[in-house]
Amino acid sequence: MVQVNGNYLKLKAGYLFPEIARRVKAFSEANPEAPIIRLGIGDVTEPLPAACRTAMKAAVDELGTREGFHGYGPEQGYLWLREVIAQQDFQARGCQVSAEEIFISDGSKCDSSNILDILGEGNRIAVTDPVYPVYVDSNVMAGRTGEADATGRYGGLTYLPITADNGFTAPIPTEPVDLIYLCFPNNPTGAVATKEQLQAWVNYARAHKALILFDAAYEAFISDPSLPHSIYEIEGARECAIEFRSFSKNAGFTGTRCALTVVPRGLMGTAANGEAVELWGLWNRRQCTKFNGVSYIVQRGAEAVYSPEGQAQVKALIDFYMGNAALIRRELTAAGIAVYGGEQAPYVWLKTPEGLDSWGFFDHLLGQAHVVGTPGSGFGAAGEGYFRLSAFNSRANVEEAMRRVRSL
Ligand code: MLT
Repeated sequence: MVQVNGNYLKLKAGYLFPEIARRVKAFSEANPEAPIIRLGIGDVTEPLPAACRTAMKAAVDELGTREGFHGYGPEQGYLWLREVIAQQDFQARGCQVSAEEIFISDGSKCDSSNILDILGEGNRIAVTDPVYPVYVDSNVMAGRTGEADATGRYGGLTYLPITADNGFTAPIPTEPVDLIYLCFPNNPTGAVATKEQLQAWVNYARAHKALILFDAAYEAFISDPSLPHSIYEIEGARECAIEFRSFSKNAGFTGTRCALTVVPRGLMGTAANGEAVELWGLWNRRQCTKFNGVSYIVQRGAEAVYSPEGQAQVKALIDFYMGNAALIRRELTAAGIAVYGGEQAPYVWLKTPEGLDSWGFFDHLLGQAHVVGTPGSGFGAAGEGYFRLSAFNSRANVEEAMRRVRSL
């Protein structure tokens, strides 16, 4: 009889967002008239930028000609896209990242999970708590953890609590770890890391020969010029960090799918026999074997993000969503709720009103205001008593959602 991967049986409940969708579906079947507003999953709502659409349409037409047809593309992505990313996202900020070090993919969720393919089983892993659940679940699936305890924490992982008490910045671990997941601007708390804070992490990683997996999917939402957008703005990061980036949240590619991962040349890991091995070569090998690239059409769309029109249109999208975030912050504060984040990130993290835990507040909000958010406890035990609202929706919906919340 075929055997299943027993690691999957260690997973707690469903993946957070399908679980929320299931509960919302059940509610709306029981209350078909309830006008539900979704501020749960961080999925964009505004149309794709015109520059991207124009480029994608032109790419479709090109594929309809013998001369312009493209079959399989390079597994790493087309060089013209990787070059413009290297120049505009990295070199323009003083980061030494070359096109060769950029791998185009269909998402940061996939890349941040798939990266485990090239990392050893014995690594001691640190995650923040709360955390983007993919980092934890992908480690469980890959057999890199023990069983979960009653609070949902898995054996073998080092959890770094981020709460209001420490300003939602991850404390440097007191025990040695080899692999560290960091996400700034942070999902779910909306917190940011300063250059000094990231420098402390890079110093730790270099001293312990550890690897930082830096998720910068929300970097475009940073407006404070003193804050770093990339880990490579930090001295020494090329020796100890891989960075994930995405077109999902800045250019609205959640459905279209395009992202990138930076693996610096010369970034080394250690083999079981003690030999130093370059991670770039392993990731390249993994992608060539298991991935056939992102479609030509989508990569042309992503390239258009870097045109002057594309840049202006993406900025307008970011400004729009951050206008929603400001509105959410303002209205919740006026309602006497403690709010965090939402200033350099599209997520507002709030303290649930007294007497309600995270799922209790979820049910209350859904039942009374027909507004969907995300329970903080779904992101980890230390998220209990918190709740996340996403700024991704139309202005009218955010205004209406806040009107309902205020009237509760
Ligand atoms: C979220 O709501 O946390 C995001 O949608 C996660 C993601 O980008 O996968």
